[in-house]
Amino acid sequence: MRCPSSSGWAKRELTGIALSAGTATVTVTGGSGNLVADQFSLVGQGGADPGSATRYEAEGSGATCTGAIDGNHSGYSGTGFCNGDNTDSAYAEFTVQATAAGTATLNLRYANGGTTGRPGDLIVNGTRVETTPFGSTGAWNTWTTRTVTVQLRAGANTVRWDPTTANGLPNIDYLDVAQASG
Ligand code: GCU
Ligand code: CA
Repeated sequence: MRCPSSSGWAKRELTGIALSAGTATVTVTGGSGNLVADQFSLVGQGGADPGSATRYEAEGSGATCTGAIDGNHSGYSGTGFCNGDNTDSAYAEFTVQATAAGTATLNLRYANGGTTGRPGDLIVNGTRVETTPFGSTGAWNTWTTRTVTVQLRAGANTVRWDPTTANGLPNIDYLDVAQASG
């Protein structure tokens, strides 16, 4: 965005900037001539606030892991991760509470130290949302996150990944759920 010359103070506004969690840097560069910047405001416009996510650990009481809770690959959160059985009938399921019906951002943390993908159907309240590819992360202690936007209903929701191949799912660490704030 350019700032045309003005004879007094003028305001320039940029909208629709998506910010992720963490630190955001705003840089203003003066080209030819003088630019005097006086004040910056960052105004939230709603949407999911990643800082307000609720974490559901795969080893927690609100989750079902068809397999074992293991701790032999470092870097996991909480007290372990779900090592699902290597079969297409092994799943990972989370019971997610929503304060109101609406959009939510899911962040599922997983590691796939195998060499091939371990795709799994994401099923929310019985309806398939996507087939998550769960590509190889290169090592069992290399964790990464899959982000999916879903619709939740008020109260308890069932969020589940069903593997589509006999390799089963990757190892699953946790599910973060951030509801849109408006
Ligand atoms: C290895 C690894 C497990 C993983 C399994 C698999 O045994 O240690 O954490 O779950 O492979 O292939 O699913
Ligand atoms: Ca496994």
